[in-house]
Amino acid sequence: MKILVTGGAGFIGSHVVDACLAAGHQVWVLDNLSSGHRENLNPGAEFVQMDILDSAVEQVFKRERFNLVSHHAAQIDVRKSVADPAFDARVNVLGGLGILSLCARYGVRKVIYASTGGAIYGIPRELPAGEDHPIRPLAAYGVSKHCLEHYIELFSDLYGLEYTILRYANVYGPRQDPHGEAGVVAIFIGRILSGTVPAIYGDGEQTRDYVYVADVARANLLALDGGNSQVLNIGTGVETSVNELYRKILRRIPTPLEPRYSPPRDGEVSRISLGCEKASRLLGWSPEVPLDKGLAQTVEYFREVHQSALSPTIRSCE
Ligand SMILES: NC(=O)c1ccc[n+]([C@@H]2O[C@H](COP(=O)([O-])OP(=O)(O)OC[C@H]3O[C@@H](n4cnc5c(N)ncnc54)[C@H](O)[C@@H]3O)[C@@H](O)[C@H]2O)c1
Repeated sequence: MKILVTGGAGFIGSHVVDACLAAGHQVWVLDNLSSGHRENLNPGAEFVQMDILDSAVEQVFKRERFNLVSHHAAQIDVRKSVADPAFDARVNVLGGLGILSLCARYGVRKVIYASTGGAIYGIPRELPAGEDHPIRPLAAYGVSKHCLEHYIELFSDLYGLEYTILRYANVYGPRQDPHGEAGVVAIFIGRILSGTVPAIYGDGEQTRDYVYVADVARANLLALDGGNSQVLNIGTGVETSVNELYRKILRRIPTPLEPRYSPPRDGEVSRISLGCEKASRLLGWSPEVPLDKGLAQTVEYFREVHQSALSPTIRSCE
């Protein structure tokens, strides 16, 4: 298949690109490098440096006639979405809608959309939250990510565009940006390795569902052919508190550094985990990498990056 991965120079997108190439597909990456990095790019993929909002994206669709589009490009910073919801909507809603329109116009068979399960259910009524849990985001990011889900379903009805919507939990692993605002695993490891005190917002007892990036890439690979017309949570169903996560990381990188506790931040839920029985039943997917193993591999990756004093985003991840 000819596959376009938007956001393919980013953390998750680059792993999806690797998985698609390894499976023998032809892959294009469209990314404006706003939070992605050239170092993440798989040399086997064709790279187009472009904003999804740029009108020239149409020429790429017209020329290449992709079979499938994996839409990962997004504004992912929850705090930024609270501070500037219009910017967040421009990228995540209008940018995404532009991509969908081009899919419909240029005969793309299917779109796989990287949505979020961590940021759309709001304060959970029950845990783990299933896909039919009420949608009540606490931040503009969750609203914009969910909004595109509606457009995707509409485009499926109007134009027969096939889709799978994957609602990710908290994804972690190699290549996540340790300097970003999202991605507590990478931020903790990056700070501990460089000897800076990590911040924990709130009392640290808030929980998240951490899913390893290789498992997420595998879900994307299965969705190339499976999970049609489905919305599927991609997580582990397991809650881990931020304090517990910190202790687990400390076991791998001993440090006398004590985290600094700061006031909780707006727009963040206090507990979340995702029920993934539907992905197991309809996609044949369930997570394979337990948190301790995934953390060990992630620490190993960042140690290598740190020691080689390269940029924090070298490609290797094994
Ligand atoms: N990381 C998570 O835990 C998580 C959880 C749920 C959903 N997601 C979704 O997964 C996707 C990838 O997230 P990530 O964590 O890899 O983030 P990331 O920031 O590493 O990747 C996003 C990529 O999109 C690119 N991009 C951003 N705006 C763009 C634009 N206007 N035009 C072209 N490219 C643009 C960035 O340069 C970057 O390479 C996003 O859609 C995000 O909403 C991530």
